Amino acid sequence: MRSFTLSIFATLAFAVFSYAAPMFAGPSPVDAIAARHEGEHTKDTSLEVVLTTAIELITPITAELGCIKAENATVEVIAPIVAKLKIAIGDVICDVKALASLPLERILCTLVGGVLDAVAIAKLLACLLNLVFGACASILAVVAVSVKAQIIPILVEVGCLVGSLLCAVLGLANGLIFDIIKCLLPQIVGCLEVIKMLDIRIIIAVLRL
Ligand SMILES: *[C@@H]1O[C@H](CO)[C@@H](O)[C@H](O)[C@H]1NC(C)=O
Repeated sequence: MRSFTLSIFATLAFAVFSYAAPMFAGPSPVDAIAARHEGEHTKDTSLEVVLTTAIELITPITAELGCIKAENATVEVIAPIVAKLKIAIGDVICDVKALASLPLERILCTLVGGVLDAVAIAKLLACLLNLVFGACASILAVVAVSVKAQIIPILVEVGCLVGSLLCAVLGLANGLIFDIIKCLLPQIVGCLEVIKMLDIRIIIAVLRL
């Protein structure tokens, strides 16, 4: 178990370094968001608050993507909505990273005064992954073959951001990685196919798909 956890760490570090870094070459939206967040207080925040807020923010955007039908499944319609989704997820990544400066008991405290455990973290992560990759799957299901080649790179970008978010959360709750992944996998069975189809390597590596 210990060596498994260590090897997950190595995979995480490798995945973040080798896949995420080139994505963010140049002026990255994540850096811009980080700059905006500078000086903001994280006093009343926790991993639960950050991830719950993320789900609330992301739900309407993924719902918009879910409403897209064959007739409006064009780059012009899809790209701006996916751009909103990327900004929202980038924001969440910054919020998660900002938590790292807090003591672990603060990070994992829940609104009802308990401690966020691996099961609860996995549930929140599963919700986020299912929202985003569910939206990706729904777009891929309606998009015309002629447009697919243009849409896929757009979806890959958002998928990679979700991978970075997953790594950021696992990095925070590092003692729980093994349990989180174990609980997470059965809850995201429905989106594994699209993760593999889009070849989101950061997620494939971390979850060993
Ligand atoms: C795409 O078309 C569907 C069906 O007409 C509509 O419900 C949806 O709002 C449209 N979405 C966008 C973003 O234009």
